[in-house]
Amino acid sequence: MKDIFASLKSIASYIPPRCVSNADFEKTLDTSDEWISKRTGIKTRYFATPEQNTSDLAYEAGKLAIERAKLSPNDIDAVIVATLSPEYLTMPSTACIAAYKLGIQNKPAFDISGACSGFIYLLNVAKSFIESRTYDNILIIGAEKVSSVLDFEDRGTCVLFGDGGGAAVVSATTDRSQSILDVHIAANGKYGDLLYTPRFNATSNSPKQYLQMKGNEVFKQAVKTLAQDVKDILEHNAIRPQDVKFFVPHQANLRIINAVGEMLDFSPDQIVLTVQKYGNTSAASIPMAIDEIYKQGKLKNGDLLLLDAFGGGFTWGSALVYFNGENLQ
Ligand code: ACO
Repeated sequence: MKDIFASLKSIASYIPPRCVSNADFEKTLDTSDEWISKRTGIKTRYFATPEQNTSDLAYEAGKLAIERAKLSPNDIDAVIVATLSPEYLTMPSTACIAAYKLGIQNKPAFDISGACSGFIYLLNVAKSFIESRTYDNILIIGAEKVSSVLDFEDRGTCVLFGDGGGAAVVSATTDRSQSILDVHIAANGKYGDLLYTPRFNATSNSPKQYLQMKGNEVFKQAVKTLAQDVKDILEHNAIRPQDVKFFVPHQANLRIINAVGEMLDFSPDQIVLTVQKYGNTSAASIPMAIDEIYKQGKLKNGDLLLLDAFGGGFTWGSALVYFNGENLQ
């Protein structure tokens, strides 16, 4: 029997319609374009409309990912969504709702909670399902209406995030040179209180049900962990930074990305940056960034991508992925 490998068969994204600039925040908050730009690199972010929910963002990105994989919804064996802003508190999962909207019924659908590392976790789960021959085609989606869990009176968090969806189809292949070569994921709950979303509790002194972050401490841990994680996955696979076509880090903060980029040996044209335009879209950030270079015609079949993410939990992870999608015409 031939070996089976998982491969990234398509990539797609959805950007919601409401563009919010730093100047827009100046009208309601004690903040400035200068502070936000200098500390984060972010200039704009896009928010979903009040009518749009997380599953709608997942649906739009998922639909395009299925089309680009040249498949129909019937070909999809499972739908998995990563989100920190699910449509419902505990059930139904955003994956169940999105799968139904996509016309995928009577197939497994579930969410995972990996915060900003969600897409790397999705790749790992999908790779395991494919390589154990459980499924042939899996739709993975990072979808976030982060604006639904933001405190718009907290200038330390609300200016950092955006909404969006990013999706991919992961399919079986026999060609290792087109495969998801390696995925590494990890977590340490010791740091859970640095970045979290409390559950609603009707006592007067309970925290608000909004994303809370000790930004400075997260920043330090993120730089250290990400740089080491990238070094480890490259070394483990005997791949040099110059062998990678694109380094796609989680888009949280330009300063974090630059600090990690400098600690490693990536040239500016290898590093994919979208944080200036979209802000931090959590689990959607990496697939949205990959789709950005795909739409620009830069990402081609066979290119080697290095992905890297860090988020609440703490969770983190990295992946080496050959792009097995069709070149955009
Ligand atoms: N406008 C103006 N001033 C502000 C704003 C704002 N929007 N936000 C904070 N400040 C002020 C603070 O109140 C503070 O003022 P003080 O000195 O008078 O107390 C000052 O700016 C400095 O605040 P710091 O938090 O120390 O600023 P820092 O340089 O650390 O930047 C930031 C903050 C941008 C949040 C940074 O720490 C960061 O990016 N952290 C990491 C975020 C991240 O990567 N998260 C992981 C993924 S997210 C996920 O998983 C959901």
